[in-house]
Amino acid sequence: MRTTLIRNGKVVTAKETKAADVLIEGERIKEVRHGINVAAEKVIDAKGLYVIPGGIDVHTHLDMPFGGTTSADDFESGTRAAAFGGTTTIVDFAIQARGTRMRQALDTWWKKAEGRASIDYGLHMIITDLGVAGLEDMDAMVREGVASFKLFMAYPNSLMVDDTTIFKALSQTSKNGALVCMHAENGSVIDVIVARALAEGKTAPIYHALTRPPRAESEAVHRAIAMAEIAQVPVYIVHLSSEDALNEVREARDRGLPAFAETCPQYLLLSVDELERPNFEGAKYVFTPPLRPKEHQPRLWDGLKKDHLQVVSTDHCPFCFKDQKILGKDDFTKIPNGGPGIENRLQLIHHHGVNQGRLSLNRFVELTSTTPARIFGMYPQKGEIAAGSDADIVIWDPQAPYTISAATHHMKVDYSMFEGFTVKGNARMVISRGEVIVEGDKFLGKAGRGRYLKRAARGGAWK
Ligand code: URP
Ligand code: ZN
Ligand code: ZN
Repeated sequence: MRTTLIRNGKVVTAKETKAADVLIEGERIKEVRHGINVAAEKVIDAKGLYVIPGGIDVHTHLDMPFGGTTSADDFESGTRAAAFGGTTTIVDFAIQARGTRMRQALDTWWKKAEGRASIDYGLHMIITDLGVAGLEDMDAMVREGVASFKLFMAYPNSLMVDDTTIFKALSQTSKNGALVCMHAENGSVIDVIVARALAEGKTAPIYHALTRPPRAESEAVHRAIAMAEIAQVPVYIVHLSSEDALNEVREARDRGLPAFAETCPQYLLLSVDELERPNFEGAKYVFTPPLRPKEHQPRLWDGLKKDHLQVVSTDHCPFCFKDQKILGKDDFTKIPNGGPGIENRLQLIHHHGVNQGRLSLNRFVELTSTTPARIFGMYPQKGEIAAGSDADIVIWDPQAPYTISAATHHMKVDYSMFEGFTVKGNARMVISRGEVIVEGDKFLGKAGRGRYLKRAARGGAWK
């Protein structure tokens, strides 16, 4: 079995930071302790560097159909870009088409990933229709390792489901141990506001944000948590964007409810002003929920620090500006919703969180790797540096300067939401199940080496 020894580094986990060597045997970590002295086939000197668990991004949309087009990264380009940024596991979303069985969607998404993914991947299932066999289908998905489901309270006529469906799905998780993830925005109210805006000739990208007020998000978060409370099950709010929504999660958690939420770098670092960029460039920042006034940002950082928010994901859903975002040139409702970010999550959260004194190094690891692994049924296989865990490891250089730019990124999209952002701290080497897949600017992994992850039900949200 191939052995690799990482020497002289500082091992950083969610719990502690310690000087230790890491011995890898085959695909797993064999030992973590100071002064390991074995003749390994490969020795990596990590002096002055951090040794952290590979990043886990539990919210990505690769090769996803949306609004008459498809997200620009497929599982090959998307997982490759993720790896460059220090992410070694993703959980993407399969979408059940209305009137069809979930199994069909799972097979479709397995096909999209097979032969392309270069890092390990799990799948959530987006429920659009519980129909006749929906609840049985949920149980069947859990048996296949799809231990979480996303339901939409927004996008009437395409993805939105009613409260009956949401409550039934939530209730079923008390039997099958899955976790329901909610896209929380009041889609019915938003649709009325959108129709009014269009009737008044308000078609520019900024109206995407102005027609989706924070209260439409917080109302839906409140309702989602209330339904989960009645069903006596946990719930996870995806891509939380506003102080208003955060208050709902905090209030629920203060009452001891198992309510969890993630936010994303864009909500922490960008504001609604981006949507006012001239020459239709505001469209680059059209995603849902929308960007908020910048006053929300410190509240979200504070939420991450105090554990009112538990996870940072990306909601990576890239559409090229030139030939995809442009579909909404004359009508903001036709702009494909989504932005790219899979490659930059660790750089941005390390720099703006740890370097700026907002988060400890251990909290950074917890938010970007360990807690996502726990909540989504992958721990301790993923998200940990300990004997027995998968050897998914990032050798992180905390001093490395890096400028984010579409000219150099690996995502297959023609712009960056963080163009020109300079950070200190970047992945120097990325190891996935014992194999070095990124070294500096070289990609050494192979499309297709990534494996489907069967995730366990009754993960951390249930404990
Ligand atoms: O605008 C977004 N967020 N696009 C991706 C789909 C979703 O709602 O997560
Ligand atoms: Zn969503
Ligand atoms: Zn999403």
